[in-house]
Amino acid sequence: MSTLPLAPRGVLYHWAEVLPLTEQTPRITLGEGDTPLVRSVALERECGLDELWFKLESCNPTGSFKDRGMVVAVAKAVESGARAIMCASTGNTSASAAAYAARCGLDCYVLVPGGKVAAGKMAQAIAYGSRIIEVDGNFDDALNAARELTARHPVALVNSVNPYRIQGQKTAAYEICETLGDAPDVLAIPVGNAGNITAYWKGFGECAEVGRATLHPRMLGFQAAGAAPLVSGVPVPEPNTVATAIRIGNPASWGGAIGARDESGGSIEAVTDEEILEAYRLLAAREGLFVEPASAACVAGLLQHGRAGRTRGGRAVAILTGNGLKDPDTAIAEYVPNITKSSATVAGVERALGW
Ligand code: F0G
Repeated sequence: MSTLPLAPRGVLYHWAEVLPLTEQTPRITLGEGDTPLVRSVALERECGLDELWFKLESCNPTGSFKDRGMVVAVAKAVESGARAIMCASTGNTSASAAAYAARCGLDCYVLVPGGKVAAGKMAQAIAYGSRIIEVDGNFDDALNAARELTARHPVALVNSVNPYRIQGQKTAAYEICETLGDAPDVLAIPVGNAGNITAYWKGFGECAEVGRATLHPRMLGFQAAGAAPLVSGVPVPEPNTVATAIRIGNPASWGGAIGARDESGGSIEAVTDEEILEAYRLLAAREGLFVEPASAACVAGLLQHGRAGRTRGGRAVAILTGNGLKDPDTAIAEYVPNITKSSATVAGVERALGW
């Protein structure tokens, strides 16, 4: 007779010893973290790499990496007595915040840029019962408002300016070191508000410090060309890109991203929407990985490096931050559907297939 796996899963269970938890921190979980790391079967060579691995953060419970940090931020909010949380979001943070708030019986307020959030993410925020405020402005405006509102009202801010978010998100770096047996040579990651690149760099630094890794990866961050303040060095007042998740003009963790870049000997570069969409299509068609456009930005960047002969080989990990299902409109617009109508008969289907 087999034993049932009774041990709870989740970031607060698996990574308790590297997180700022106390005995009073509620051990909440939606089973986040412990995401697959899968090897590339098609794009490795074209990227000029010896090994390319994809970290499938799309496999988290709300379909993006945000759950890793949100579970810590919400647990700490509950511990501190909060009854409500708030975030500004391009969609994924709000989906995650809404889910953990529902789980913990908290009120959740989300501020989103009107008309610029992918349909699946809106569906999530609605389904989990959050109160949605569509602001007449972009993400940066929404975050400014959320900061001020949470300073004035008894509501916890759960954007990545909340240090518990970064703490939770760093656990992905620990997982990569654990799975590969060391840190990779290169970490490729899409950059928007820059919390995630900051969190990975912190995680890899801690892994090296305690002997979980012997090296630090070069951090390669990729922004969309229409929203690339960290590349130009100045905020972008009206950011624009098909990758709405990273449509951000003034990242809150600006210093963290520049620190990760410079301390690791890496870079933060831009990829065009065309390059993003090409990588988006290639990931689905040749790797079997359906991600949202923002996630494809880091693979677009690796392809750009590989094709330009700029890659030094070695082992890279690309962070696939969000699930393709979140943005059905872009999928329908970008993939060429292979659909033929048919009667529901064998003869009809044979005719449709040309058999
Ligand atoms: N990829 C996806 C799918 C995202 O949703 C985000 C950020 C990023 C990458 C960039 O991560 O901001 O830490 O540099 N989404 C935020 C949100 C802004 O509101 O969901 P970052």
